[in-house]
Amino acid sequence: MITGSLPFRQTLSFDDVLLAPKYSEIESRSEIDLSSNISGYNFNFPIISSPMDTLTEEAMAISMAHHGALGIVHRYNTIPEQAAIIRKIRSLTDKVSAAVGVTERFVERAIACHAEGAKIICIDVAHGHHSNVERAIKSIKDSVIGDSVYLIAGNVAMPKAFLDLSAWGADAIRVGIGGGSICSTRIQTGHGVPTLQSVIACYIAKMNNNLSTKLIADGGLRNSGDIVKSFAAGADFAMLGSMLAGSSDTPGEVLSDSAGLSYKIYRGMASAEAQKSWRGRVSSQEGVSTTIPYKGDTSTILKNIEVGIRSGLSYSGARNISELREKCEFIIQTPAGQGESSTHISRVSTR
Ligand code: XMP
Repeated sequence: MITGSLPFRQTLSFDDVLLAPKYSEIESRSEIDLSSNISGYNFNFPIISSPMDTLTEEAMAISMAHHGALGIVHRYNTIPEQAAIIRKIRSLTDKVSAAVGVTERFVERAIACHAEGAKIICIDVAHGHHSNVERAIKSIKDSVIGDSVYLIAGNVAMPKAFLDLSAWGADAIRVGIGGGSICSTRIQTGHGVPTLQSVIACYIAKMNNNLSTKLIADGGLRNSGDIVKSFAAGADFAMLGSMLAGSSDTPGEVLSDSAGLSYKIYRGMASAEAQKSWRGRVSSQEGVSTTIPYKGDTSTILKNIEVGIRSGLSYSGARNISELREKCEFIIQTPAGQGESSTHISRVSTR
C-alpha cells in the first residue's frame, strides 16, 4: 500500500557507474591475486558458471575447474543423470557443485550428488526469499550430509533477504533478480532490482552484521568491467550466464544457417522451451530462449575475462579484491558520460 511519500528508491545499474582510476604501483597483471575460497576449496578465479541446461554440464564444469573457477551442474535432469555428470567431473577435479530445487525429492538429489563428491550444493530457485527455501536449507542441514555440505542459496535482491537466508544457514547467497540477459521476470511480474544495486545493498547489510556469508553477483554481467564493478561493490564471486553461453563447452549442438554462420542455443530456465523440456508443461514464462553466435573455445573466453579483471584491479591500484573494495571510488555517470564510455567512433561500412 502506498501511504504518504512514494516508496521509490534511486537504484544503480552497471552502466550508471564507473570506477575512478587510482594511483597504482602494479607493474604486471600477474601481481594481482584473484583467489577466493569456499568451504576450504581455493579458487584462483572467483567466477561461477550458472546452473542452466544450456550452460553447465560436465565439459563446462571441467573447464571452469581448470581455470580455478567453479561450475554448478544444473538440476534439469533425473537424479541418476545429474549424479553421473558429477561422477565424471569428480574423476578430474574435487571442485564440483550441483544444483537442487526445493520440491520433488530435492534432499535425495542433494544426497546423491554429495555421494558422488559434490560437497557444495546450490539451492537454485528464482525467488529465494521464500519459506520453501528456509525449509529446504533446514531439510538438507538436518539430513545425513548436513555436517559436511556447503550451501549456496538464492536468488535474492534485497538486504533483508540476504540476512534471512544467512540466518537460515546459507553459506553463500546468489544476489540478483530479473537482471539476467535471458530474464523476463521484470516484464512479466514488475519485480526486480538492478543487480549492482542489490550487490551494494546486500554487502552493506552483510558488513553491518559482521557476516562471513559469501556474496555471489548473479545476472546481467556482460563484460569483465561489470565483474570488476560487482567485486568492488562487495561480491566475492561473479556468476556468469551469457558471457560463457554459446562457447565450446556448453551443452548442445553447434547449429549452422544457410549463410554458414554457427550458433548455439542459450535459454532462461523459466522460458517456455526450457520448462517444456524439463517438466513437460509451461506455467509462468519468465525467461526467453534464443540462439546466439557460436563463440568458440571456452578456455580462451575465460582467459580474456581474467585478463580484463586483472587489468581492472590494476586501474584501482589494487592487488586483490579486498584492496579493490578499500581503494575503489564509484562515480555516477550522466547519459552523456555513458555515451562516451561505450565505443563511439562513427563507422563507415566498407561493403
Ligand atoms: P546472464 O545475464 O549472465 O544471467 O545471462 C544468468 C542468470 O539469469 C538467471 N536466470 C533467469 N532469470 N528467468 C529469469 O528471470 C529465467 O528464465 C532465468 N534463467 C536463468 C540466473 O540467475 C542466471 O544465473
